[in-house]
Amino acid sequence: MRVTEPGRFALLPRLGISPTVGSLVHEALDRAIEAAEARSPGAVAVLDAGCGRVSALRAFRPRIARLVGADIHEPSAPLPHLDAFAIVDLCGPGTAFPDSTFDLVLSSFTLEHFADPQAALTNLRHWLRPGGTLVATTVNRRHPFVAAYLGLPDGTRRAIQPLVKATAADAHPLIGACNDPAAVRAALTGAGFVDIRLTTVGHLARAWGRHWPTFALGLAGDLLTRGAPSRRSTIVAVAYAPARMDP
Ligand SMILES: C[S@@+](CC[C@H](N)C(=O)[O-])C[C@H]1O[C@@H](n2cnc3c(N)ncnc32)[C@H](O)[C@@H]1O
Repeated sequence: MRVTEPGRFALLPRLGISPTVGSLVHEALDRAIEAAEARSPGAVAVLDAGCGRVSALRAFRPRIARLVGADIHEPSAPLPHLDAFAIVDLCGPGTAFPDSTFDLVLSSFTLEHFADPQAALTNLRHWLRPGGTLVATTVNRRHPFVAAYLGLPDGTRRAIQPLVKATAADAHPLIGACNDPAAVRAALTGAGFVDIRLTTVGHLARAWGRHWPTFALGLAGDLLTRGAPSRRSTIVAVAYAPARMDP
């Protein structure tokens, strides 16, 4: 399914809300797939961990030999870009895939939903081949609007989610156990990842931009933290499985 961006998003770069999460993730995936192509020509294997229904990996499909999606729920619609789909609790025992199966794992806007983020990240690290890349995105509690949203009682948040999410199927329970740059870095380190790079970007106007009023609220939030990188709403993490895997 092609997702068309509302025209109002064109305002954002003009107001200094850039780069986008999409462009950072695209660049990171491109670099990771290029490295994987050099290691395993014609055999690049990729996992979309917590795949939902939308994936930045679709743009790279011709360069991926095997693309697997995993999620705790059945997809709400068919996912023809995948070669295989598995129902997996990523925070569970880690037996869904053999160790060293994938060259690249994308886990997009999932950490905020995990009951045990470090267990999930440890699984992802085990499933990556030595030297493989993890690209993960999540929300940043250091942004005051994100902190407020995560702090709402579940019932209130559930009532608001349909206003900001594209469909009801995109509104998932939020936990927020690992949602600031220090916590993400600590969880990645604890899970055994190396060469961890975190970038923060303003993403609220885009994330909440389905309607003008929520777009305007998100834009105010992005402008508020434009000059304070550690408080921007969204974290993009790139990290690597060590070249030699420790048990
Ligand atoms: C906000 S959606 C993101 C979906 C998609 N990756 C994207 O970027 O649009 C979060 C996804 O993580 C999944 N998820 C949450 N907890 C999970 C878990 N413990 N194991 C596997 N998937 C999980 C949800 O079912 C949902 O599909």
